[in-house]
Amino acid sequence: MQKDFLALTDWSREDLEQIFALTVELKAKQKRGEEHQLLKGKTLAMIFEKSSTRTRVSFEAGMFQLGGHGLFLSSGSTQMGRGEPIQDTARCMARYCDGVMIRTYSQQAVEDFARYADIPVINGLTDLYHPCQVMADLFTVIEHKGNCRELSYCWIGDGNNMANSWINAAAIFGFELRIATPKGYQPDATVMARAEKMGAKIRYTHDPKEAARGAMVLNTDVWASMGQEAEQKEREQAFKGFQINAGIVALADPSCIVMHCLPAHRDEEITNEVIEGPHSVIFDQAENRLHVQKAIMATLMG
Ligand code: CP
Ligand code: NVA
Repeated sequence: MQKDFLALTDWSREDLEQIFALTVELKAKQKRGEEHQLLKGKTLAMIFEKSSTRTRVSFEAGMFQLGGHGLFLSSGSTQMGRGEPIQDTARCMARYCDGVMIRTYSQQAVEDFARYADIPVINGLTDLYHPCQVMADLFTVIEHKGNCRELSYCWIGDGNNMANSWINAAAIFGFELRIATPKGYQPDATVMARAEKMGAKIRYTHDPKEAARGAMVLNTDVWASMGQEAEQKEREQAFKGFQINAGIVALADPSCIVMHCLPAHRDEEITNEVIEGPHSVIFDQAENRLHVQKAIMATLMG
């Protein structure tokens, strides 16, 4: 098995399915109030160079439930924020801790960190990927639909870190993925090309209605991600019509589920009505961050 969790495509389908199996076990134990201290006495350092609610709280609570400790480090309060080279920080952290979770901008920084730290490194979101989120999302699909493989998925909105992560998931699990973005906001070209090489069934369009028709899973994310706040107004213009609303849900399969990784801009990329409506599994997704990440940490650090 891999030492790190940096991108979904570093892992095989079998290994990811093993993580899901452990998630089922850990979630059941937590619900029954049974001890599951698989990481007793271990420390996870959590480095955040971007904001977070769910990632921080789910990793920190998850480490506590596993009998360990989650150590929160905001970039501004460490020497990293003053320009200490990654290779120095990474090697020192590896002497104190048993694992590191990083949320930052460049995927390369996370990969460099992992290269120098000889402890497991987990990607807590970069501009390119959000692999822990897509694992929680897939687990949520399995809970609601019985499996994640024989379904059609639809992504409407920005070709961002979440879209790239879904493309990787489509390549690994073999499900059909339709992606609708405005022109100029396509997912990462290298990620797309590799997925296609792996035989992924991906259909790309600029028409949200076409993407949604008959889909079992509807998914979206904010139009301006962290770091793109200055583009908000321009993006609001570009993304007009790329909203998940009652009209889009009506085109999908009648038993479809609607997903959003949160935070959401209600009535922008998704309507308030749909978030609160009967198809939404958005808060199950958020909850499953905790359970899936516990399984990821136990697998890597146990
Ligand atoms: N979905 C997600 O990663 O949320 P946070 O930004 O709150 O961590
Ligand atoms: N695409 C969003 C996801 C937040 C969890 C961002 O990067 O800001």
